Amino acid sequence: MTALERVAILDFGAQYTQLIARAVRECGVYCEILPGDARASKVAEYGAVILSGGPASVYDAGAPRVDPELFGAGLPLFGICYGHQLLAMTLGGRVERSAHKEYGQAEMRVLSSNGLFDGLPEQMAVWMSHGDRVVDVPTGFAVLASTPGTPVAAMADATRRIFGVQFHPEVAHTPLGRQVLENFLRRIAGLHGTWSMARYREQVEPAIAEQVGQGRAVVALSGGVDSAVATALVHGVIGDRLTAIYVDNGLQRQGEVAEVSQAFRSAFPGLHLVVVDAAQRFLHRLVRVTEPESKRRVIGAEFIDVFEEEASRLGPIDFLVQGTIYPDVVESGVGKAATIKSHHNVGGLPERMRLQLVEPLRPLFKDEVRRLGEDLGLPASLVWRQPFPGPGLAIRVLGEVTPERLELLRAADAIVREELGPHGLGREIWQAFAVLGGSRSVGVMGDARTYGELVAVRAVSSRDGMTADWSRLPHELLARISQRLCNEVPGVNRVVYDITSKPPATIEWE
Ligand code: XMP
Repeated sequence: MTALERVAILDFGAQYTQLIARAVRECGVYCEILPGDARASKVAEYGAVILSGGPASVYDAGAPRVDPELFGAGLPLFGICYGHQLLAMTLGGRVERSAHKEYGQAEMRVLSSNGLFDGLPEQMAVWMSHGDRVVDVPTGFAVLASTPGTPVAAMADATRRIFGVQFHPEVAHTPLGRQVLENFLRRIAGLHGTWSMARYREQVEPAIAEQVGQGRAVVALSGGVDSAVATALVHGVIGDRLTAIYVDNGLQRQGEVAEVSQAFRSAFPGLHLVVVDAAQRFLHRLVRVTEPESKRRVIGAEFIDVFEEEASRLGPIDFLVQGTIYPDVVESGVGKAATIKSHHNVGGLPERMRLQLVEPLRPLFKDEVRRLGEDLGLPASLVWRQPFPGPGLAIRVLGEVTPERLELLRAADAIVREELGPHGLGREIWQAFAVLGGSRSVGVMGDARTYGELVAVRAVSSRDGMTADWSRLPHELLARISQRLCNEVPGVNRVVYDITSKPPATIEWE
């Protein structure tokens, strides 16, 4: 892929920036997110530029700006929302502050296509979410579209290839938005759309070979899709110089350790896979630990100890393969607010063990990782696995984690997953699981009083785990789950369904 086949997305703090990036990738064009004020010389390494939305008002003191030299670089530019207003203001147009926000779908009338609306109808539904609006376009610009509330819904200086839209083409609420983006990328910017996972493999495999040379590497398999795909990819390049270590921390779901190791062994018979039974060690460390962050810390620290011990048995190792993906990289680049949960990962390992990192999935989004996994021959059971937290069931057993309570939760969780399976809800639901609520309540079974455990069922839909909505499961399905949980899991006498979204709740209970 030449440099010019890449798009830079300048980020002005919009909640939708990653959606823009994903939409661009889905158009077959590789893109990267850069800070809004990135230097023009850096941006000139790309073939086109998208200016994202953002919460600021262009006239605010300290509102983010672009490097003015960007306009001299001759690159095709496409401003979205704040990016559109920024283009208008910087190039001599006028933006008006408005007290009330236009939020929701609007009917847009296309006045002139100029390439951007080629092949699209004259009237289309678009998603608006803005306060300010452009009222005068800069010299050389034409108004391409308007809505009743937004006179300049789209504008262009086609000669200089500078375009701006007030609406959000990247969200699903703009049904034809993908075509608008595609028109900008292909017709206006002249990009070819050659980005695919097959292409990515062609580039990344030689890069892995070059980085690792004749060295040896380890990878921590978690059962999740990212580490699975990273393992498959690196194994394909360096063969038995890669060792995969799968730590059974005793906190996995029913049958999971056997399933995952079996799936790997049959898909990659030559893979050097070490499964470490460390369940007792983890459970021992968790005795009397009840506070959620303490659980996470204890499990994270124990994991590093076990992994390090195991790796040291292998002799000299030079590299640690990690399944870091693009959202991890972008998120950590932005100053984040309070830590809600300390995610357990292998972060502390590279320094302690003096290992160099191999991160072959770093530029990819989750859906791209899954496609790459399929391309590498990983079984669907691994590629489409629901996300599962590093601390495992420990953060779904509220209160103390004992072997008995883990067993109860495992049985309950297996029923929830089993019942959801036949509904074909597998890929629509981001995660579905059971939580052992940690409180007891009175019930009646047969003619006797019970004082039993509460199990909560959680099912959410989400694109990336950052926000989530609780799934509207059919009542009959919930009824069957509830009945089975009380009948088949000894000790359970009450089942509740979690109807909170994220925010205000989080997906996991701890
Ligand atoms: P929350 O509960 O924060 O979860 O809404 C968001 C997503 O992250 C997963 N999760 C984790 N994943 N290590 C992980 O690898 C962790 O410590 C961890 N904690 C939560 C969670 O399952 C959901 O998909």
